[in-house]
Formats: sequence, C-alpha cells, structure tokens
Amino acid sequence: MSAAEAPRPEEYNPFDPAHVDDHFATLAALRESVRVHQPMPGVYYVPRYDDIVEVCRRPEEFGQGGFEPLEADSRPPELIQLGESDPSEHTKVRRILAAALSPPRMRAYEPIVHEICAEIVDRFAGRGQADLIEDLGAPLPAQVIGRLAGIPAEMRHRLRPYSDDLIGARAQPDPDEARRCQQRVNAFDEELRAVIADRQRSSDRPDDLMAQMIEYRDEEGQPLHNEKILTTLSKDVIVGGIETTTHLIGNLFYLLLSEPGLFERVRADRSLVPVAVEETLRHHNPVQVLFRRARVDVDLFGTPVSAGEVVCLGYSAANRDPRVFDDPEAFRLDRPDPRRHLGFGWGIHLCVGAPLARLEATAGLNAVLDRIAHMELAPEADYQRVLFFMMRGPTRMDVVFDQG
Ligand code: HEM
Repeated sequence: MSAAEAPRPEEYNPFDPAHVDDHFATLAALRESVRVHQPMPGVYYVPRYDDIVEVCRRPEEFGQGGFEPLEADSRPPELIQLGESDPSEHTKVRRILAAALSPPRMRAYEPIVHEICAEIVDRFAGRGQADLIEDLGAPLPAQVIGRLAGIPAEMRHRLRPYSDDLIGARAQPDPDEARRCQQRVNAFDEELRAVIADRQRSSDRPDDLMAQMIEYRDEEGQPLHNEKILTTLSKDVIVGGIETTTHLIGNLFYLLLSEPGLFERVRADRSLVPVAVEETLRHHNPVQVLFRRARVDVDLFGTPVSAGEVVCLGYSAANRDPRVFDDPEAFRLDRPDPRRHLGFGWGIHLCVGAPLARLEATAGLNAVLDRIAHMELAPEADYQRVLFFMMRGPTRMDVVFDQG
C-alpha cells in the first residue's frame, strides 16, 4: 500500500499486511490520539510504550494467548510453547532455556559463532554482490541454533524451510498451501522425534540445549515430556530464533546502507556495531506486534475488556513513542540508552533468546566489516516486506561491494 493509500488511524488493522506495510505515519497519529484502539470487536491495540509495559507487568490479568481464538487452551500442556504459556508451566521451561541461552553461556559460545559467521561470509565475499538474506541472514541463525540445540549437522540446512513451513501452516492464506506446509512440518517433526530418542539412548551427550532438556528433572524427579522437548525445540527455539534473527540482520543492513557513509563509519568504529544492532531492534523491530488475552474482566486504560478478549501489544508503535525516544523516526547511533526499546518485549516473557540474537547479529556484521570495505544497496534493491503481518523484515537484500 502506498503512503497515499495508508489507512486512516481509526481504520488501522494490525492483522492486515497491507496496512502494516508502511504503517509508521499511521501509528504516530494513532499513538497521539488514543491509548487503546479497537480494530475489530474483542480486539484492542495498545500503541504507547508505558501502557505496553504496564500490560506486561500484569500477567495475572493479561495472560498469554495468540490471535487464534482460545487455541492454546484446548491443547495439552506439552504442546503449548513457552511464549504461549502462563506460570507455572512457563516458569519451568523458561528456567531451562534461560540457563542454556544466558549471557555467560553466550560468551563461551562466541568463538564458535565467529567461526560460523566467517565461513558464511567467505562464501560470498569474493563475489562483489550478494543477497544478504539468502547469503547471510538465513543461513547464519539456522547454523548457529542448529549447533546450539544439538540438531545433527546434516539436518541444519533444513531448519530454515522447516521454520517457514511452521509459519506457513498458520499464516498461508491458501488452505491447500497451508496443508502442504503442515505435511512437511509433520515429516520433519518425526525426524526430530527420532533425534531426541537417539540422544536419550546415547550415553555420549554433548552439553547442548537438547541434552539440558533431556536431563531436566522437576522437584518430583519427573523429566520433561518428549513432546514438550519437541515443541520447545521447534516452536520456541527454531521458529522463535531463526526467522526473527534473519529479519534483524536484513533490517540492520538495510538501515546501515540507506544512509550514505554509515557502513564505513561503523566499520571504522566497531564500538558502534552493538549500538547499530540495538537501534535496529528499536527502529525496525522484527516482531511488530504480539498478543495477550484478558484472563478476567479488566479496565484497559479506560476501555472495558472482557475475559477472553485479545490485547495487541503494538511494539512497533511503542518503539517510536516520542514520550520515550527523542527524534523517534530517525535511526541514530547516539541514543543515551540504546537498549531501552521493546524489540525483545518486556517482563516475564522478555525474549529468552536475546543474548543469542545479539551475539549473532554483532558477529554477522563484524564478519562482513572484516572482509568488505565498502558496500551499497544494489541499484535494483527494493525493501519488499515479508507478508506475515506480525513480522518486519525484507524478503531480499541485494547489495554490491568492494572487498577490504
Ligand atoms: C532478533 C531476534 C529476536 C527477536 C526480535 C525476538 C523477539 C521476541 C519478543 C518480542 C518476545 C516477547 C514475546 C511476548 O511479549 O510475548 C520474544 C520471546 C521469546 N523469544 Fe525471541 N526474539 C528473537 C530471537 C530469539 C532467539 C534467538 C530465540 C531462541 C533461541 C528466541 C526465543 C524466544 C522465546 C522462547 C520467547 C518466549 C519467552 C517467554 O515467553 O518467556 N528468540 N522474542
């Protein structure tokens, strides 16, 4: 949708990919005019930073829940992923993932991630042109997460298509295509079940995320259900960690290359690399919107919300809230607190993979800067956003460059 066709703020529908495509001016107007916007009956969109933090602060009133009606509630607990679960089920799996993905663990993992990034960048650095999604943003998280999660090396190149299929099974508008995605997901799930079973039988267990889930015992000595291990691996780690990081890398290069001289400035001062990553997570956050479901009747900043209704956390609107960020529409590397964004959410569901995502994006950018002195968007490059309404990331990122 072109700017001329942008929806009026009161018509904004966060589920409509055409509305979301170029929505920042609409969101700015919406954020100034209302605290709660109702795009459809039973759905409430919250655009302001402080208000989203307030909703996240109250998980007993605003529980987890997707945009599909009460889907989570009809499934057994082992099939519900971490991001959709409420305490105490949430607390148990969160602890395992938080330990496996903690900042100290990530520091120990740094040399491996640098090695993976160097190998990936070496494959295209001599070519003078690349699609940074196909050549970097897609393979990097699949290789890193596959290794960290204990997925056999020969399966890792299939993690990205698996993740796409998992999303396609829910988001594809064509029901036949959605069914085909689900069939491919079912087949890969079977392979993952076999990997988990093999690892359970084997006494030689590398210290990775799969081993940590297999070895987990609760206070009563009970292990995690095998289907819970599969759900956590597939939905929380593979889907939660691959597509998001691909988009972060795509958006990061898009923003760096859209302003002449910025790539070279960051190359000359590497302390700006992590700052550029954080500012990308604010300005072009991959996860545009997420959901909570009211657990009780509740007052949402003056709007009555009934139990079971959906609250949309407008992370992309909040990340440009002028009450919190000066000059919010600008991509700037001199913000006093670059990590203040809501790109990873807030509160008990704050992204548990954030330390890994930060490591991958900084290592990926550094590997490019190590080998490439000057890079530009290709003349034909065009930011085509992925169609899934929740996400912001380019489908391709065509660049041309000189080697360093
Ligand atoms: C740039 C990359 C990433 C972005 C932008 C991102 C974004 C987010 C956001 C916004 C949330 C909050 C969910 C909510 O409010 O309900 C979240 C949660 C989560 N993320 Fe990430 N994520 C990224 C990378 C990762 C990685 C690498 C992993 C795993 C390896 C991961 C796993 C998760 C999980 C499991 C949750 C749910 C946490 C919970 O409910 O306690 N994410 N992520």
